[in-house]
Amino acid sequence: MDCNIGVIRGDGIGPEIVAEAVKVLDAIGAKYNHTFHYDEILMGGCSIDATGEPLTKEAIEQAKRADAVLLGSIGGDAKTSPWYKLPADKRPEAGLLGIRKALHLFANLRPAYLYSQLNEACPLRDDIIGDGFDMLIMRELTGGLYFGKRETREVNGKIEAYDTLTYNEDEIRRIAIKAFDIARKRRSKVTSVDKANVLDSSRLWRKIVEEVAADYSDVTLEHMLVDNAAMQLVRDPKQFDVILTENMFGDILSDEASMVTGSIGMLSSASLNETKFGLYEPSGGSAPDIAGKGIANPIATILSAAMMLMYSFDLDEEAYAVETAVSKVLDEGYRTIDIMPAPGKDTSNITQVGTKKMGDLIVEHL
Ligand code: IPM
Ligand code: MG
Repeated sequence: MDCNIGVIRGDGIGPEIVAEAVKVLDAIGAKYNHTFHYDEILMGGCSIDATGEPLTKEAIEQAKRADAVLLGSIGGDAKTSPWYKLPADKRPEAGLLGIRKALHLFANLRPAYLYSQLNEACPLRDDIIGDGFDMLIMRELTGGLYFGKRETREVNGKIEAYDTLTYNEDEIRRIAIKAFDIARKRRSKVTSVDKANVLDSSRLWRKIVEEVAADYSDVTLEHMLVDNAAMQLVRDPKQFDVILTENMFGDILSDEASMVTGSIGMLSSASLNETKFGLYEPSGGSAPDIAGKGIANPIATILSAAMMLMYSFDLDEEAYAVETAVSKVLDEGYRTIDIMPAPGKDTSNITQVGTKKMGDLIVEHL
């Protein structure tokens, strides 16, 4: 198979972690006889430096021409980087929001799975961890607060700012359908998270989700308020299978879910539209504090590449091969610093490695 992959290395640790994912893809290509062509796309801070814009029209066109896009991370240190002196719509994050919107990537899948080998890195108590957990956050990605009308203005001599949270029924329906479809392939449970005790947009969300649920009598639906969901995620994460939620709640809960699984460095993600195209990226940020040190965990990006193999190219066997290789490397005790056992836990048989070594080990185990 011949696949065209757009590659956005981005900022911070982005280039380091993407290099490892590309290495893994190339090894998969060699082993299973596929050719992956890469087209480098600028986005984020590096694009601002080169072009003055976080996302150019040309970059969007390049992404559209690709079969799928692999992304590292974008953004820098908000306190020190000159990018954050720019107006909000010219900053690195605007590039990411822009590409999601331009490519209609409304469905963001963030699987959060606790590798049993990483129980020691999980901050939760052993009795809560039990035999582990495995959930998937289905986050709506092109609506809600992040795309609503917003303004900072002066009213009666005082500065005020507002953001608006709007969803229409079609936007809710299409993401709900994705959640129920995927739940069918998992443990057939959807927890729809909202704030229906306060927000109108959440009350509409609940109504439409219930309408969709009527077509999936084999899938259990429950509703949960977002504050309770944040609490349940650390109290009893086992209860969750698919968590369906709007953009901002999904942003917040997916970071929380990542910590529950040991580290944000393990959390992959896929952003999909109605076609086979997808944008694949680790859920974590650009981590400017550790950029260039060679210590970032590349596993989330490598697992995102595996999601690309599965969702955009239908190469399920190859995707499993990547996941299995990751698991074997963890079995052998190799860890990047973020997934080292928590203080006080047993570290015999554990070897700390850097970004590149972790990538090499995963390639060796393919
Ligand atoms: C994420 C990130 C982005 C988001 C930021 C960088 C705009 O936090 O992908 O979760 O909020 O979606
Ligand atoms: Mg986030």
